[in-house]
Amino acid sequence: MSPSESTAHTPTSGITRVAGLGGGVIGQSWTALFLAAGMSVAVHDPDPQAEARVRKAVDSAWPVLTRLGLTEHGRPDDLHFCHDARAAVEGAGFVQESVPERIGIKHDLYAAIEPALDAETIVASSASGLTLSQLQAGWRNPGRLVLGHPFNPPHLIPLVEVMGNDRTDQAVVGRARAFYETVGKVTIEVRREFPGHVANRLQAAVWREAIHLVNEGVASVEDVDTAVAAGPGLRWAAMGPTALFHLGAGEGGLAAFCERYADSFNRWFDDLGRPHLDEPTARRLVDGLRPLSEGHTVEELSRRRDALLTELIALTRKAGP
Ligand SMILES: NC(=O)c1ccc[n+]([C@@H]2O[C@H](COP(=O)([O-])OP(=O)(O)OC[C@H]3O[C@@H](n4cnc5c(N)ncnc54)[C@H](O)[C@@H]3O)[C@@H](O)[C@H]2O)c1
Repeated sequence: MSPSESTAHTPTSGITRVAGLGGGVIGQSWTALFLAAGMSVAVHDPDPQAEARVRKAVDSAWPVLTRLGLTEHGRPDDLHFCHDARAAVEGAGFVQESVPERIGIKHDLYAAIEPALDAETIVASSASGLTLSQLQAGWRNPGRLVLGHPFNPPHLIPLVEVMGNDRTDQAVVGRARAFYETVGKVTIEVRREFPGHVANRLQAAVWREAIHLVNEGVASVEDVDTAVAAGPGLRWAAMGPTALFHLGAGEGGLAAFCERYADSFNRWFDDLGRPHLDEPTARRLVDGLRPLSEGHTVEELSRRRDALLTELIALTRKAGP
């Protein structure tokens, strides 16, 4: 399929009521984002601690969402907790499922909610590792089910990977993308089942080579991390790798770049490492990270990352695509 044949979508959805199934790490973050966008959100999670946890997460995400300009229409108290999953999905135009990555739990939940869904309701699963075909088993109407895979935390990182397949209703992928874009996400369409979808594979490719460089003694863990964050990582926040190389060989653009650097890249492609994340490798990475990890708590580092990310995302939102 060429890009022009990709599912058409427009950034309007008409959806005002959302159900969130699961209020863990991912579900609570989705909830904050949906509320910020002015949706009424019904959450179901059987854990008795979940409601307090989700409300706290919404409160702590709100200032960041405000900084990103995403809370203009939202009210944090438009959140309703439901003890019954069916009650949560009743009347919802969009259901985001973020329950544990165990196929039995997801199937049982789908079977419970399917009879209560409106005809047009879309159900999206946050699943990272399970495939859409696995998720579709057991549905009477799998046509409404898509993969809506976020990057953690969903209220902050814009990307969501959307996927349907030949059992998905034709318009549903486009409608799901339109919905996500209405709430401030940036979507891509994954066109076929592939382990790890797109973004996790890209992360894995970069990390694999980072580990290889450390294993081979080319640079320290700290320096390899710095090479990413202070070099290509910054550029990747502005544009993807192929678009960037279009700018790397003057007026001739990408074609000139490929001609000029094909030999170098092919040599490097052939030489990239294939390390395994075994125990000695993990120990080497943990030791190498000590200058950073021993000076600061994980919470401090997470706060620093999120503050920087918020400013970067605010800038990229202003700059547009
Ligand atoms: N954590 C990540 O970085 C990440 C990133 C992208 C996608 N995902 C995917 O998101 C999904 C959720 O992951 P998570 O990290 O939030 O897990 P989590 O364990 O933090 O949260 C899962 C929540 O679901 C609740 N739950 C269990 N059974 C339920 C049911 N029947 N109905 C409703 N809620 C139920 C649990 O009480 C828990 O609060 C998984 O499919 C995972 O693969 C996770």
